[in-house]
Formats: sequence, structure tokens, C-alpha cells
Amino acid sequence: MSEAQLKPAPAPNVETWGAFINGEFRPAASGKTFPTFNPGDGEIIGYLAECDEEDVDSAVRAAQAALPAWRKRTGASRAKLLIKLAQLVEANGGKLAELESLNAGKPIRDSKAIDAVTAIDALEYFAGMATKVQGDTIPVPGPYINMTLREPLGVVGAIIPWNYPLLQAVWKIAPAIAAGNTVVIKPAEQACLSVMYLGKLIAESGIPAGVVNIVPGYGAAAGAALVAHHVVAKVMFTGSTVTGKRIAAEAAATLKPVGLELGGKSAVLVFEDAPVDQAAQVAAMSIFSNQGQVCTAGSRLFLHESLHDKVLEKVVDIAKRVKLGNQMDPATTMGPLISARQKERVEGYIKSGKSDATLAYEAQVPKELHKGFYVGPTIFDGVSNSATIAREEIFGPVLSVLRFKDEGEALALANDNPYGLAASIITRDVGRAMRAGQALEAGNVWVNTWGAVSSMAPYGGYKQSGYGREMGFAVMRELTQEKSLWVGVR
Ligand code: NAI
Ligand code: MG
Repeated sequence: MSEAQLKPAPAPNVETWGAFINGEFRPAASGKTFPTFNPGDGEIIGYLAECDEEDVDSAVRAAQAALPAWRKRTGASRAKLLIKLAQLVEANGGKLAELESLNAGKPIRDSKAIDAVTAIDALEYFAGMATKVQGDTIPVPGPYINMTLREPLGVVGAIIPWNYPLLQAVWKIAPAIAAGNTVVIKPAEQACLSVMYLGKLIAESGIPAGVVNIVPGYGAAAGAALVAHHVVAKVMFTGSTVTGKRIAAEAAATLKPVGLELGGKSAVLVFEDAPVDQAAQVAAMSIFSNQGQVCTAGSRLFLHESLHDKVLEKVVDIAKRVKLGNQMDPATTMGPLISARQKERVEGYIKSGKSDATLAYEAQVPKELHKGFYVGPTIFDGVSNSATIAREEIFGPVLSVLRFKDEGEALALANDNPYGLAASIITRDVGRAMRAGQALEAGNVWVNTWGAVSSMAPYGGYKQSGYGREMGFAVMRELTQEKSLWVGVR
């Protein structure tokens, strides 16, 4: 069943959001809108302006017009506005968490504890960065002084997915504008209400019109127009590897650089000395958080043969305790997947797992949830590393369990995958943790934990999980360009 087939009757009583261009919300030039859903019951909860090339062009022009004054401001003055926005996000944290859960399907307890809180932290952190972008002085030979100037790129285009809409928006917008760029962001068509609400807060914060513009719409129209636009200096993208490759190819036409945060098939390695309870908890959290719709999801669990049975049993126990339900209920620990299409995709992988591996656990979806896009925790054992469910990103709560005999085999299997986003190691042996930490082909490696992310630490992928880095000083380098300035001193 696709969204198109679902087509519920128009719901005239819900809010319609315009595009946020030059500081105000306005309809798409075409007048078109598209619906957005509550994935928990399939009901329409809002309409959005369906932006196309014309709206993207207006947004890019607004961002271009806002650029000279914005980049000329002091870092401190940009920082003050980011702090003001952080305060507004904090004051509206409940509302933002509610919109995030309603539209993206994540359990309300997580939206409140994780998404809204992390967004505030990122705004505050990048406010601090606005005063720390600086160059070097280089002792070149000859009668010269050489200095480097770190300058903003110009108009940055951002394209984000639906799994963490608010956070992804903040992670793209905050460092870009801190560095003196202006931004046009295209949220994912499936879930953008929290991002639109953020637009309202941006307008209230005093950040000048045009510095941030939000163009809701479909990838093939609004997204593609942003990538093609000749004024856009760089595209920062988070999403699937397939779309990332396409964007990199399209961006080549205007020679614009891209930052790509793509998919993953991350390994969790449990060695023979690992504490069984902790290993099971980390493994379960890594695949069941956010319904498994996490780019760093630990979707391949490698268990040493000596504790395979014990850890698997505990992971199944945790899976049985997952509370699948209405995402707005504070007791719910797993909500619906984002869409009918995603549910269909994930169910397709479960079907392929049933023919390639042994089903160790499959939750039943309660009858009262059948209107929503629910898939419960599913665990396959005896999975081969070459099976489809061990190679492809499923983006659902589906775990593949594999077995190994020694460290060398574990590392070789973990690395034998086209993706390289993240990996976790569970061990008490420091030497092994360090060896594995160095050997794993992944941009993020966690020891005795999973999923830690901070505004302060670089985040990004190896191999087909993308290139470029977000967070920390790393993203400030991605969002600026370095000028070499020579002064003759004779
Ligand atoms: P997607 O990567 O196609 O969409 C992400 C964003 O890119 C959305 O804003 C979309 O509108 C935009 N987009 C799509 N096509 C575009 C184009 N040609 N030009 C410019 N922008 C474009 O992901 P989608 O289709 O929503 O999900 C499909 C699968 O991708 C999922 O099942 C999952 O496996 C994977 N995925 C992975 C994510 C990750 O963070 N690793 C995030 C989202 C999806
Ligand atoms: Mg797509």
C-alpha cells in the first residue's frame, strides 16, 4: 500500500504551512500543497506548501540577498541570535517534541528527553563557534606575511531526512549560520512539521529575514532544484546512499561540493569477555531505538560463539518487553515506522530473512494498531554476512545475529560491508578495544556503548556511508573556505 493509494479524504480542519522564505510563511508559487500524516494512524495532520523550482529559486535569492549583511556581522552578534533561538526552542520544547512524535512517529518520551534537548545543546554549542572561526599566520620564506582567512561559503543548501527532523535541521542550520553563511533547507516530505515550527521560532528570534529559509516539498522537485541551483555554494545532505550518490552526481554539473551523511549497516561486536547483560542492553538499544530508523543502527550483531546463546536469549527478552504503541503515550517505547512505504520495505526484508536465516523472535502487532505503520522487533539468528538482511540498510527494528570464533574473524566480517558509518565493541580487554577501534572501517566507533553523539565530536562515515564531517570544529571547516592572503613587507 503506498501513500498515494491511502489518500484519505482531505482534512480541512488541520493547519497548512507555507514555505518559510525571506522571514515569512507563504504559499508555493504554484498554489499546490501536500498532506503530512500521523504514522500511528495514517490520519492527515497538516498540509504543506509543495515547493518546486520556482520557490527554491525565491528562497535562494532571499538567502543571497541576506548574505552580505549577515557575514559582515561580528561572530558575537551571530552568537547572540543563536542563543536567543536556543532559548525559544527550550521554551517551546514541549510543543516541538509533540510535533516530532506526532509526525515522525517517535515515542514521546524520546522526543522530550532526546530530540528537543539535543537541539538546544547544538544551538548553544554552535553559538560559541561563531566567535571561534579563524585562520593561521604562516611563516613563509621571503619578504611576505602569509595569513589565511576562513570565510563563509555563501548560500548553503541543506537536505534532511525524516528520522530526526528537528535535530537534523538544527545540525545543518546552526553551524552554517554561525560561520556567516545563509541557508535554504529542504526537510523530508514525510515529516517536516517540527522544522516548520522551528521556522516560526527563527522569525521570532530576530535572526534576519532570508538568513534561514525552509522549502518543504518532494526530493525530485524541491530537493533536485536546490542541488542544481547555480547560486548554492554547497549542499549538505543526510539520507540514503542511493540519493546521496545521485546528489553528488547532479552537484558535479555546477561543481558544488557536497557533504554526505548516508546510510549504514553497523556492527556490534560482543567478545568472549563481555558482560552479558550490558552486551544485550547495548545490542537491543542499538537496533530498537527510534524503531531502528537510525543511520547508525546496530543492525548486525556479532556474538562470540562462547556467549552467543546467553546474549541472544537476553536480547530476545528485551525485545519481548518493548512496548509497541501509540507514540504519544508516555509508556510507549516503540512507535510506528514513518510511512506505509517504509513498512512495506521493512516487511520485505523480514520476508527475505525468513528464507535466508532462522527467525529467533518476531513481535506481533496488536490489532488496535493496524491503522498505523507498525512493525515490531524482529530478530534473525544464524545470518550469513552475505545475506541481503546483513548487507542492506533495512531502517527498521530488524536485527541480524552472526557468530564468530576469534577477533580476526570478527573484524574481517564487520568490515566486509559497503557501509562504514559506525561500530560498537563490547569487551573488558583494553588492548582488544584499542585494536578493534583502529581496525574497524567506520567513522564512529563506540566501546562498551552505542549511539553517543555530541555537538563537540566529529560525526560522519567511511566508505559508502558518505564523506565530510558534521559537528565540532570539523563542520566549521566544511562550511567555510580558506583564503591564502599574502602581504609584501618590503
Ligand atoms: P532519501 O534519501 O531519498 O530522502 C532523504 C531526503 O532527500 C529527503 O528530504 C528527500 O526529499 C530528499 N531527496 C530525495 N530524492 C532527492 C533528489 N533526487 N534530489 C535531492 N533531494 C532528494 O530517503 P527515503 O526515500 O526517504 O528513504 C528510503 C530509504 O533510505 C530508507 O528506507 C532508509 O533505508 C534510507 N534512509 C536512510 C537515512 C539515513 O540517515 N541513513 C535517512 C533516510 C532514509
Ligand atoms: Mg528516496
